[in-house]
Amino acid sequence: MNLVDKTEKTFALTTPLYYVNDVPHIGSAYTTIAADVVARFQRLLGHRVLLITGTDEHGQKIQRSAENLGKGPQEFCDEIVPSFVRLWESLDIQYDRFSRTTAARHQAIVKEFFLRVWENGDIYQGQQQGWYCVSCEEFKEERDLLEGRRCPIHTTKEVEWRDEQNYFFRLSKYQTKLEEFYQFRPDFIQPVSRRNEVLNFVSQGLQDFSISRVNLDWGFPVPVDSKHTLYVWFDALLGYVTALLEPDAEPTLANALKTWWPINLHLIGKDILRFHAVYWPAMLMSADLTLPERVFGHGFLTKDGQKMGKTLGNTLDPIALIQRYGSDAVRYYFLKEIEFGKDGDFNEVRFINVLNADLANDLGNLLNRTLNMVKKYCAGNMPSIANEAIPIENPLKAIGLPLGEQVKQAYEGLAFNQACEAILLLVQASNKFIDEQAPWTLYKQGKQQEVEAVLYAVLESVRLAAYLLSPIIPNISNDIYLQLGLGINFNDQTESPIVAPFAIHATWGLLSNKQQLGEPRPIFKRIEPLKND
Ligand code: MSP
Repeated sequence: MNLVDKTEKTFALTTPLYYVNDVPHIGSAYTTIAADVVARFQRLLGHRVLLITGTDEHGQKIQRSAENLGKGPQEFCDEIVPSFVRLWESLDIQYDRFSRTTAARHQAIVKEFFLRVWENGDIYQGQQQGWYCVSCEEFKEERDLLEGRRCPIHTTKEVEWRDEQNYFFRLSKYQTKLEEFYQFRPDFIQPVSRRNEVLNFVSQGLQDFSISRVNLDWGFPVPVDSKHTLYVWFDALLGYVTALLEPDAEPTLANALKTWWPINLHLIGKDILRFHAVYWPAMLMSADLTLPERVFGHGFLTKDGQKMGKTLGNTLDPIALIQRYGSDAVRYYFLKEIEFGKDGDFNEVRFINVLNADLANDLGNLLNRTLNMVKKYCAGNMPSIANEAIPIENPLKAIGLPLGEQVKQAYEGLAFNQACEAILLLVQASNKFIDEQAPWTLYKQGKQQEVEAVLYAVLESVRLAAYLLSPIIPNISNDIYLQLGLGINFNDQTESPIVAPFAIHATWGLLSNKQQLGEPRPIFKRIEPLKND
């Protein structure tokens, strides 16, 4: 059954399917947080959204990790997968599909896809020689290796020499078609720096790549030759397609592609750009399928300047971070502090400072002190001034009116930091406005109408800020809305876009004097600075 009304705009997006060689770290959480924010924002716009995540479970890397623990690979995967599910729950990730590449239905999709490419004459047998990084599951050019034949990404790992009969995918055939496609669709690869990287790589001439392995059991057999195991990346990329199947649908390509294809956005880290921006579109061209709309390659989270990762063992435990600071804090920090697309370093002192400054002081105190003033000066009732009575020259209204559109563009361009900064400008202007207007003095002077106008403008600005930040800090936004007398649950996917549609809630001036304000209470508790700092 097709559950989506085709007249409604749909938006399908993916996180990478994570390797299960170990429990997730904050690097894997980063892409998923960003994806969840995009999904939540698209839902607020009223679109039907499908957020796909999942796990990539085949290949040598996983097989070896299992062997090292003396476990069978499937048993090993089954033990690791719940740690991803738990992490997404504790980060309030609202995914719609969790795709596991070891699922039987996935094998059916992979087989059908492989045969389409095979029948198109794009797969042939050849000899593969080269240096292989098991951690990347990728052949490396000798010139790209570090001293001691170490991988440039997994800098502690030596690459391994391979010389074997493999099946190859005829990537070279798609050189011109791909180049034409990149020209025709300049937005396909983002940000621009990544697009240039890909154009440069492709212009050096594409080489066919091997899509099967011998001496490896952990994977699907090549449909035309069971002595070979399908290369993990060929299988993994198709996990996105399998994820589109309705839970009870028969696993065929036609069923999978019926509703949500083509995918609107693949969110990935920069290390897997070639797979998504070169190999994947070429595979899809070969199978005669429409290409995705956009691939965005974000930067790396580093710790002490080094890529954080399972292989290097310098990871940050996301669960510990969430337990200590809460899910909204973690989501906010990484999106506000790091320009999406660039690398960013994690530093706990900075983390605490940012949260205290933005969420506890600027936003939290503002709401708290304003509500307390409303209690004192307006007997706890919503200020009885109408939005229309506030002139557009009012500094908060002037910033607030165009803000929704600015923030929309920032979210759509995945410039999360810009979205946060634009919203914070309104919050900071509100703090300044209150200090300058000094409603406590106006009150003493008996200027009740002016007091109410100031308090209305500030409360409305806090509301707008909370709404626009809700994709990033849904729990805090819920709390703010509740205190403003608007009981909207931003974690309720079906309710919030209907009761709080973007067209209405993203506009300054929504609060009415009929609102029953709630009890003021802190929305974000100030974090104590770390000891020894
Ligand atoms: N299994 C493949 C993806 C297949 S998609 C069909 C894979 N998995 S991974 O678990 O190694 O990495 C998944 C994602 O996490 C990648 O986008 C990668 O860039 C991201 N990150 C891993 N470490 C990271 C950081 N330290 N910082 C930011 N993101 C990083 O690759």
